[in-house]
Amino acid sequence: MKNISVIGSGTMGNGIAHIFAQNEFRVNLIDVSSQALEKALLTISGNYDRQIKKGILNEARKKQALMNISTHTSVEEGIADADLVIEAITEDLKIKMEIFKELDQYSSPDCILASNTSSISITRLASGTDKPDKVIGMHFMNPVPVMQLVEIIRGYNTSEDTARQIVGIAEKLGKIPVEVNDYPGFVSNRILMPMINEAIYILFQGIAGVKEIDMVMKMGMAHPMGPLQLADFIGLDVCLSILKVLQEGFGEAKYAPCPLLVKMVEGGHLGKKSGSGFYNWSGDAKELQVAGRFK
Ligand code: CAA
Repeated sequence: MKNISVIGSGTMGNGIAHIFAQNEFRVNLIDVSSQALEKALLTISGNYDRQIKKGILNEARKKQALMNISTHTSVEEGIADADLVIEAITEDLKIKMEIFKELDQYSSPDCILASNTSSISITRLASGTDKPDKVIGMHFMNPVPVMQLVEIIRGYNTSEDTARQIVGIAEKLGKIPVEVNDYPGFVSNRILMPMINEAIYILFQGIAGVKEIDMVMKMGMAHPMGPLQLADFIGLDVCLSILKVLQEGFGEAKYAPCPLLVKMVEGGHLGKKSGSGFYNWSGDAKELQVAGRFK
């Protein structure tokens, strides 16, 4: 496998393009918006600079990595010679189903179709294609260049050969692949989201404040970020949609999203990406302040 196409140039898509290009794959980064593609290239370049500062990369390797990336606004053109396509667009079943139909139509018969979805059923995405054996979940963690895990999700019809190839690719990227089966939330979000939801309930019930909740988990359990900061980092809309997938998929009240989370998403407080959530993200990220209403 040499040619990789990544659909979507947002945080996850540009992170995925970043690591493939750095590891000498040819990357076609695809987005409907050419402005979004330009922004993604600037982000990738800035993140390579962080790695240069740490001595992980040098200027020559950065230059080569950036040359390995081409951008496209047409899916048909961008996946024409792909050995592997990784979809990293918005977490919306209908939009993902449409994209998978298009990927199926324009990709070569041997091309593997992967999704970076954090909760949507891989089996369902595969059902809209003529090659469900070649559809798989490749769930990267944010920030992609830093986090070691790739959760590999086997759909009900994913073939052994597809799974082996994807495990091999993740290893080539220097990541740690972990294989799991396709049930709501997979493993990562089945564990992470109830923890985040419980932290929001603790705040909602007035048991402790934002700083205190996060401090307990950072200082007591050695988490790099507290659950409320992490929720802001992931995006509160994403957390809400994953909790809904768990609630619907298992039909259990324990996954019901906290009303405070629902209210914050309705009010447009989505965390880092909107500038406010449990924290105020408009200032210096190193001096993160609790949002005014939670002080
Ligand atoms: N590209 C390259 N390098 C990056 C980077 C990026 N996008 N972001 C951060 N870094 C590097 C920094 O250069 C720095 O390197 P060193 O450790 O070598 O100094 C390192 O990462 C740490 O960064 P910072 O010093 O800026 O900040 P930090 O120490 O607070 O760490 C963090 C930031 C890595 C994000 C850390 O807080 C962390 O691990 N947080 C938890 C992240 C997490 O849980 N991610 C999973 C979210 S869930 C998900 O993604 C899936 C889902 O389905 C919801």
